[in-house]
Amino acid sequence: MALSQSKVVAIYPGSFDPLTSGHLDLISRGSRLVDKLIVAILRNESKQPLFSVEERIGMIHEVLDNRYPSVEVEGFNGLLVDYAAERGASLIFRGIRAISDYEYELQMALMNRRLRPEIETVFLMAGEEYSFISSRLVKEVFRLGGNISGLVPPAVEARLKNTGDKR
Ligand code: PNS
Repeated sequence: MALSQSKVVAIYPGSFDPLTSGHLDLISRGSRLVDKLIVAILRNESKQPLFSVEERIGMIHEVLDNRYPSVEVEGFNGLLVDYAAERGASLIFRGIRAISDYEYELQMALMNRRLRPEIETVFLMAGEEYSFISSRLVKEVFRLGGNISGLVPPAVEARLKNTGDKR
């Protein structure tokens, strides 16, 4: 839905370790607003992720299953705003679940604006049924033997079950 000739590109950045049903809902909502949506996974060597960036990219592709032709998935290094500029993005999408998310998100959005004022952060709300879901809690519930069905897409649930000795 570009207003002019130029394509509107947005980045949806995050850790996605792993992708949750809330993330998927945001991808679906976000993809309807722009010409191209890039789901960008931070390559952060200092964190100890459950899934490698390559595994996460593969998992997200499996979940999207070619249903979203305008969505791309890739890893990124360094400053988010530099990566966004490199990819020709004018928007950064971030999901807000509750007011508690807002403070950290506002801080990041304002820092990113200071670094590159031409890039706008847009907050999107996932469906309220996903408002309590986070990758961190999903991993914890799963590790302790709880039911995570519906909290993550079925393909992610299957991959979690295959993590075996990583648990
Ligand atoms: O899913 P997350 O872990 O909340 O995502 C955080 C993320 C990846 C969006 C943030 O850590 C980030 O943008 N990192 C890249 C480095 C950077 O640009 N830092 C300055 C942000 S103000």
